[in-house]
Amino acid sequence: MKKSMNYHKIAKPFYSAFLFCALSVSPSVGQNKIQSLKSAYEDDFLIGTALGTEHILERNEKANRLIKREFNAITPENIMKSQIIHPTPNHYNFDLSDKYVEYGLKNGMYIVGHTLIWHSQLPAFAGKIKNADSLRIFMTEHINTVAGRYAGKINSWDVVNEALNEDGTLRKSVFLNNLGEDYIKNAFDLAAKADPHAALYYNDYNIEQPAKRKGAIELIRKLQAGGTKIDGVGIQGHWSIHKLNLQEIETSIIEFSQLGIKVAFTELDLSVLPNPWDLQGADVNQRFAESPAMNPYKDSLPDSIQTVLANRYTDLFKLFLKHRDKISRVTFWGVDDSHSWLNGFPIRNRTNYPLLFDRALEPKKAYQAVINLKTTK
Ligand code: G3I
Repeated sequence: MKKSMNYHKIAKPFYSAFLFCALSVSPSVGQNKIQSLKSAYEDDFLIGTALGTEHILERNEKANRLIKREFNAITPENIMKSQIIHPTPNHYNFDLSDKYVEYGLKNGMYIVGHTLIWHSQLPAFAGKIKNADSLRIFMTEHINTVAGRYAGKINSWDVVNEALNEDGTLRKSVFLNNLGEDYIKNAFDLAAKADPHAALYYNDYNIEQPAKRKGAIELIRKLQAGGTKIDGVGIQGHWSIHKLNLQEIETSIIEFSQLGIKVAFTELDLSVLPNPWDLQGADVNQRFAESPAMNPYKDSLPDSIQTVLANRYTDLFKLFLKHRDKISRVTFWGVDDSHSWLNGFPIRNRTNYPLLFDRALEPKKAYQAVINLKTTK
């Protein structure tokens, strides 16, 4: 059975009708029937994108057509984070998240919830909590209310996000400080109860690196040993064309799947810009903030770098295909280069090119390379 066709019983008729239309209008790639990322990879894994407010509200018709043509999974880039969805103790902003879920349902897409428990982007009131009882109440109400509202509609939740330090130990946070390490188990148990059908994921960056991976494996094993439901691990995949460790990525896919869970690449992008953090012995954030050397492709990306980007994506997707039985989803962190968070991080106001679609919403050489892997054997 095709992996991409069974997300919502309720949405299936919409999906079939939509798929028919999409296939009949989308541009042809190659000479066979492959016409989009999602159709190219439909027997392998889901292909997702992160949506911003403008996408959810369908403000740009070209972007909207592209999203529906190319992707069968969506993640909200920001609007479900607790700071936005639950700004004060008894107030929730469900306007955009309702629209996000509706968008996914009407287009037959696999809908990801991002994210329930994260130390960052917390509402001010939660960040200030200083005792276990109050924090437990916050967590319980938050998860019950948010995951409960979309029960049966959201396919997968990033339940806990970024709980680990680079050395694999648990990150100090308001959650760890007040509740100890059990907060992770509590969060997963609450999510499983609030939405028994959603797939539950632990999501983090750099967990393909050995020390952090070891910490993630330990965290997952503990959850499993305690009888807690965990369905998958999200390797975020914020990488660079200059530094992509395929060997560690492959080891991670194998080791995580040996735990009996799925592996998703949840926030994939490949920066093409120099990373000041690779330099030694300077306060690089300050020093390079205004430096043209740190923003070398301000006006356009040279062909030679387009080619490197295409080659790195080719390497990655070859690896993903090799392990397609272990991978549930590959989601790009953004639709096109114009709205990537990497234009502002780790230095503001740069021009980065990390995705498969350019600022005019046209497919890049890297897009073609990823599609070609499925057309040329
Ligand atoms: O919406 C406000 C706007 O009203 C205000 O004028 C503006 C001024 O700075 O800020 C806007 O909010 C920004 C928001 O993105 C929406 O654009 C926040 O400052 C900014 O911090 C926020 O950044 C997001 C970041 O997470 C922090 O939440 C990025 O867009 C988003 O791509 C990034 O995504 C994270 C994943 O959730 C978790 N993994 C890492 C990944 C990259 O950091």
